[in-house]
Formats: sequence, structure tokens, C-alpha cells
Amino acid sequence: MMNDSKARYGSITRFFHWSMAILVSWQFLKFFDRINDGEHWVGETLVPWHISIGSLILVLIVLRLGWTVKEKGNRPEHGSIIGVLAKIGHGLLYVALVLMPVTGIFYMVGNGYGLSAFNLEIIAKGEEVSWLINIGSLHSYIAWGLLFLVAGHIGMAFVHQFIIKDGTLKRMM
Ligand code: HEM
Ligand code: HEM
Repeated sequence: MMNDSKARYGSITRFFHWSMAILVSWQFLKFFDRINDGEHWVGETLVPWHISIGSLILVLIVLRLGWTVKEKGNRPEHGSIIGVLAKIGHGLLYVALVLMPVTGIFYMVGNGYGLSAFNLEIIAKGEEVSWLINIGSLHSYIAWGLLFLVAGHIGMAFVHQFIIKDGTLKRMM
């Protein structure tokens, strides 16, 4: 079933969720640049895709937000206080998923590097723009915030699965 329902998330929502979960995990490998200045297998093989994958995530999150608005009244419900916290947590995840690529692009363009994704030039190299650099410098802080949010999110998925046992994980599988 493509659409969501009150009982479970449909295939389109699940496609967005799991494809982006994989791509965002890939993006976190950029933290490994802190080890030996990125001179290792991860840094030389997977991390060079950072800008291309980040740009792809921007496209996916715009489409996903549109889909979320469309399916809003049609999704599994969240009762109780844990449900309110889940809504806040998911909202923060969405905000971070928009801010990460936006600040990354501001960093690149602000420093005059331009933007190329998958060998395609999207924005040409140019002058430095200080206000873009200032906003772009938030990229790393937001990355740490997103990492903690994702860790809490995965932790809660396991709490639902193994402690509360209410089938929450199943509706996203
Ligand atoms: C959801 C998308 C993204 C995620 C999760 C992400 C995540 C990260 C992480 C974890 C770091 C390392 C931060 C640190 O070590 O403190 C980083 C650095 C960086 N990212 Fe991203 N990123 C994303 C998108 C992008 C995009 C689209 C661009 C560029 C167009 C970009 C450009 C950069 C740059 C240039 C750095 C190095 C910054 C520095 O050295 O201060 N990122 N990113
Ligand atoms: C980078 C990784 C991840 C991100 C950014 C993320 C983001 C989200 C977001 C925004 C939602 C709200 C529903 C939606 O709009 O699709 C959601 C729901 C959900 N996620 Fe994740 N997720 C990630 C990884 C995971 C992992 C690894 C698991 C399982 C271990 C998981 C389990 C779930 C479940 C069960 C739901 C449904 C929760 C409910 O209905 O209350 N997520 N996720």
C-alpha cells in the first residue's frame, strides 16, 4: 500500500524513512575526518561523496515534507505523553534534516567554492560572502545535535520494541 493509514506507514513513507536513514548515516562518516585528518579507508572512499549525498538529501527532505503534509491526517496516532514527546522529537529531526544541507551549501558557497553534486556544477565558484559563512559555520553544531537526536530516536524505537512491546517498529517496517 502506497499511502499511510492509521495502522501503519505506507511504502512511500517507508521508502523516505529508510533511504534517508542510510544516507544520513553515511553523512555522519564525515566525523571520521577528525581521525588522522581523514587519511584512512572511510575518509578516502565514502566521505568524498559528502556534498553529493548531502545535496540529494535536500531534494529528498523537500519531497518528504510535501508527502508528510499530504498524509498528515492519515498516519498512526500518538496518544499519551510519550506520543507528545515523539511528535516533538520527529519535528526536531525534520528541522535538522533541512538545516544540515542548507548550512552545508551556505558553507561551500560562502567560502567561494561553489556547489557541484554527482559531477554536475550547480553553483559556480565565486567571491566569499561573509554572512553565508557565518550561517554555514553552524553546520558542525547542528550535525552533533542531529547525531544525539538520531541516537535518542533509535533508543526509543528499541524501548517500544522490547519494553513497551506496542508494535511501533512494525508499522515502519
Ligand atoms: C543531511 C545532510 C548532511 C549531514 C548529516 C552532514 C553531516 C556532517 C558532519 C557530521 C560533519 C562533520 C562535522 C564535524 O566534524 O564537526 C560535516 C562537515 C561538513 N559538511 Fe556536512 N552534512 C550534510 C550535508 C552537507 C552538504 C549538502 C554540504 C555541502 C554542500 C556539506 C558540507 C560539509 C563541509 C564543507 C564540512 C566540513 C566543515 C568543516 O570542516 O568545518 N554537508 N557534515
Ligand atoms: C538517520 C536516521 C533516522 C532518521 C533521520 C529518522 C527519522 C524519522 C522521522 C522524521 C520519523 C517520523 C515519521 C516520518 O515522517 O517518516 C521517524 C519515525 C520512525 N522511525 Fe526513524 N529515523 C531514523 C532511523 C531510524 C532507525 C534506525 C529506526 C529503528 C531502529 C527507526 C524507527 C522509526 C520508527 C519505528 C518510526 C515510527 C514512530 C512512530 O510511529 O511513532 N528510525 N523516523
